[in-house]
Amino acid sequence: MALRTHTCGELRKSDVGQAVQLAGWVHAYRDHGEIVFVDLRDRAGRTQMVFDPESGKELCEQAARLRREDVVSITGTVSERTGGVNPKMPTGEIEVMATGLEVLNKAEAPPILPDDQAGEAAEEHRLRYRYLDLRSQKMQHIIGTRHRVLQLMRSYLAERGFWEIETPFLCRSTPEGARDYLVPSRIQAGRFYALPQSPQLFKQILMASGCDKYMQIVRCFRDEDPRADRQAEFTQLDIEMSFVEQQDVMDLMAGLYSAVWQEVLGVEIGEIPVMAYADAMERYGIDRPDLRFAVELKDIGDLAGKTDFRVFTEVLKSDDGVVKAICVPGGASMSRKQIDGLAEWAKQQFGAGGVPTCKVGANGTLEAGISKFLGDVAPDLIQRMGANEGDLICFACGTFAMASQVLGELRVKLGRELGLIDESQWKFVWITDFPLLHWNEEEERWDSPHHPFTSPVPEQLEQLESDPGSVLSRAYDLVLNGSEVAGGSIRIHRTDVQQRVFNLLGIDEAEAKAKFHFLLDALRYGCPPHGGIAVGLDRTIMHLTGTDNIRDVIAFPKTLTGMDLMTQAPSEVDPAQLEELHVRVVEEEEGE
Ligand code: AMO
Repeated sequence: MALRTHTCGELRKSDVGQAVQLAGWVHAYRDHGEIVFVDLRDRAGRTQMVFDPESGKELCEQAARLRREDVVSITGTVSERTGGVNPKMPTGEIEVMATGLEVLNKAEAPPILPDDQAGEAAEEHRLRYRYLDLRSQKMQHIIGTRHRVLQLMRSYLAERGFWEIETPFLCRSTPEGARDYLVPSRIQAGRFYALPQSPQLFKQILMASGCDKYMQIVRCFRDEDPRADRQAEFTQLDIEMSFVEQQDVMDLMAGLYSAVWQEVLGVEIGEIPVMAYADAMERYGIDRPDLRFAVELKDIGDLAGKTDFRVFTEVLKSDDGVVKAICVPGGASMSRKQIDGLAEWAKQQFGAGGVPTCKVGANGTLEAGISKFLGDVAPDLIQRMGANEGDLICFACGTFAMASQVLGELRVKLGRELGLIDESQWKFVWITDFPLLHWNEEEERWDSPHHPFTSPVPEQLEQLESDPGSVLSRAYDLVLNGSEVAGGSIRIHRTDVQQRVFNLLGIDEAEAKAKFHFLLDALRYGCPPHGGIAVGLDRTIMHLTGTDNIRDVIAFPKTLTGMDLMTQAPSEVDPAQLEELHVRVVEEEEGE
């Protein structure tokens, strides 16, 4: 016999009089003696079930014994609500007068309740009892939205000729800049697979294989510390296309994001502006600017040089010393303690010397902080910063990188804390024209800001060896409200160019051959020009569902220490298993 004829979300006034059977969880119960109300819940919603004298004494008594999260199947007749319509529930016009009840599974008292009215349970409990947490309306909404977005992306791309192709999980390591998860081989002692940080090389090889347009919704693995928007195991919508230019990939993505935002939120995102990396760094101090508020970094080196403030004048003596500032609207209302706290924050976060500040008073005067050193330049400074009474001007000095980093992060921090950000806005922006290489001060060598397969701008190929730092790449990142939601590039499709970039990265021919022979060979035997992008799916869903915790959008996520609290992974394993894998665990000595 069927356990249900309808879900708990679909009955309406037009169904009155129908005999129905619903199944689900007991979400709430109210025992009024003669009459028992039960809110029955399933994925689709909730319906009020009523047990009254007409249902029979025995059935009423049975209903009175129901408790939260019992799983039941109830038969009855749909009728109009006697107690008046409940406008908060889609099924609020009706109730079901019960005629039968079967308890399918009696639940023990649950350690946490889905949709806990008294406030959310601690996240630790939510993750440990994830099956209870996932029953909540909030989590069901997120999981449902995620499903819809995946379906939409798949069909959007399938309609445009993309093939979904799976790539291996047990593979050679792909350099995406993080540490690899390694899997020991049982059959080949002492050898390891790496879990892919992304399918980058496989998707490029699919282009050499003539597949033309590839897509995959794929898990990526990076052994890095989790953060609010970062998991060691996360999902990408991965895309690669043959015979394309940068603009083709950007147009495809703009169309895809428009379709998703339109479908899920009913929001028109409009044209996505493009900003060069250098411009973003200059104006926002960061390569993923949050454009929902107007505060911008300004170079005030010329003015700072005319002051008596030694910190500034000393920095400016060095060739690469800069002084920059932001003007924070309304920031003068911050307390002395809060303002002093900024310096402490900058020291801890970036090892910066501090954050000098001053307040803007009435009639173009500067007050507090370092204002006493700024006397002569005050009018010019106020004009340059576009400052008004009640604003706070924050300064940073040092190298361009240091000053940008401090003010870029401070801009966002104060933007949030002072409520300067318009949370209702969707500010997409493409960041382009990244440098191909980045000088790693510590290790004194060039790094790839993206990955080593990113194509240099063809017009600058000649200066690749003579002036590597000046060469731009054909990479592009899609940024939304200050978070990087996707990144990609046009790739190198010629062996000679790839080897030249490897050389600059310190990978000589022998090493390149050992590590990437398959790629170099694939390029050699006829590889079309190609490019692509990868969407951070978890981050995109975070935006769509309005959460700033990546664990909310993943059904079974890991904690900040990499634990799955439900299954208690990672766990110790049987020594015999390790032996079979030729792995010996070295006990760390205490204090090591
Ligand atoms: P990239 O490393 O920029 O590019 O990754 C693409 C997008 O994936 C998301 N992302 C993450 N999301 C959650 N947790 C993480 N640890 C994490 N790391 C990255 C970001 C990012 O924009 N192979 C290239 C793509 C390409 O060139 O086509 C790549 O993986 O939203």
